Amino acid sequence: TYVVTENCIRCKYMDCVEVCPVDCFYVGENMLVIHPDECIDCGVCEPECPAEAIVPDSDDKAAEWSELNRQYAQEWPNITRKGEAPADAKEWDGKPGKKALFDP
Ligand code: SF4
Ligand code: F3S
Repeated sequence: TYVVTENCIRCKYMDCVEVCPVDCFYVGENMLVIHPDECIDCGVCEPECPAEAIVPDSDDKAAEWSELNRQYAQEWPNITRKGEAPADAKEWDGKPGKKALFDP
């Protein structure tokens, strides 16, 4: 399965939702997550993310995010259409310490 990680926070470009064939993205206040039981592991979303926030669960970066994706995919609403990214998305791209801003 694929996992949305820290750099999605406050970037939230949403290009990912447009390409997912099974619509398994869920949306929170400032980031998205993937439902691990619905993701078919196609990998199509990974190169679409301008923030490079999506990784396979085998990636080191996924470790601390796998459980959060599972948990919040069950609490947040499904999202299938790209909305407007935050106006300052670019400024947040790559900023360290964004995990502290995770906002469920
Ligand atoms: Fe959707 Fe494929 Fe990405 Fe999984 S890997 S979230 S199925 S686009
Ligand atoms: Fe987040 Fe990238 Fe999707 S920033 S909303 S995972 S396109």
